[in-house]
Amino acid sequence: MKTYLVTGCAGFIGSNLVDYLLKKNNRIIGLDNLSTGKKFFLKKALKNKNFKFFKIDLLKNNIDRYFKNVDRVYHFAANADVRFGLKHRKKDINQNILVTYKILETIKKNKINEIIFSSTGSIYGEATQIPTKENSPFPIQTSLYGASKVSAEAIISAYSEAYELKSYIFRFVSILGDRYSHGHVFDFIKKLKKNKNVISILGDGNQKKSYLNVDDCIRAIDLGVRKFNKNVNIINLGTKECLTVKESIKIICKILKLKPKIQYSGGKRGWVGDNPYIYLDTNKIRSVGWKPQYNIKDSIKQTARYILKNQWILKKKN
Ligand SMILES: NC(=O)c1ccc[n+]([C@@H]2O[C@H](COP(=O)([O-])OP(=O)(O)OC[C@H]3O[C@@H](n4cnc5c(N)ncnc54)[C@H](O)[C@@H]3O)[C@@H](O)[C@H]2O)c1
Repeated sequence: MKTYLVTGCAGFIGSNLVDYLLKKNNRIIGLDNLSTGKKFFLKKALKNKNFKFFKIDLLKNNIDRYFKNVDRVYHFAANADVRFGLKHRKKDINQNILVTYKILETIKKNKINEIIFSSTGSIYGEATQIPTKENSPFPIQTSLYGASKVSAEAIISAYSEAYELKSYIFRFVSILGDRYSHGHVFDFIKKLKKNKNVISILGDGNQKKSYLNVDDCIRAIDLGVRKFNKNVNIINLGTKECLTVKESIKIICKILKLKPKIQYSGGKRGWVGDNPYIYLDTNKIRSVGWKPQYNIKDSIKQTARYILKNQWILKKKN
């Protein structure tokens, strides 16, 4: 039995990952400050004797004691909100760069040999090559979030090159599925619950992304870690299709049985730093036998239905 530590274990992706790893009969130590994560997402995991949860802040608290006898660290805690980067500039730097540095120092001190990191397709900025490969020309950063993730990736790689630390950096696009608690589907439903007659949407609605289901994302991470064996492994994840914001709102309105007037704020980008088109080349992960089981439309439907069934998510913090 292996012991894995998951940071951000109460988040959307982290909590799904915890359930997956427990099912595979691993021992899990979960750390989260519940800033955006929800203890409710850990309801099932908390009943499992192989799961230990600690509510701690990775930036402020001493974290050393949780890293004893750990075989691998999944570092998924972050400020995952791309949109408000320029409003709260310190957040991306503190939560995404400094926390990653602290995790790496603790990993080194405790002689842990593997780190799995959740990075993002945003690091490609406005890519010049689409589909964007892992080794595409290095972009200009367009968001503080992307900049903080690329910085974290660089620091992880440098520790890997210097010390006995294998790293797996997964770059993925917007994730959908159960426990989805932030992103455009969440925002649209929240707005429509407030006003069912009119909805205002940022940008011109033609922004498109190759969204991925959280189950497919976690299966890809699991497979990637088992199949790739370099010192530093960088792997894109995503589907081979794209969905525009316009198509997405159509599906959401159909599920809500609403026909609101849709007002677009205009412009290619939803906000400063928004990348209007993200489509990653995923041949690397596909070469080891992974392919997504969900298409984007079904994932949007699943996500919308999950939010409607769990409307407390729209209001409650934790
Ligand atoms: N959701 C996506 O579409 C997406 C896409 C690409 C990358 N990612 C990355 O995947 C990871 C998980 O994202 P998510 O969507 O689950 O976000 P999330 O906000 O649901 O999860 C992040 C978790 O980290 C915790 N956290 C944040 N700062 C912390 C701190 N200082 N100490 C302890 N815990 C802290 C939060 O409480 C939360 O539970 C993040 O690294 C994110 O950047 C997400």
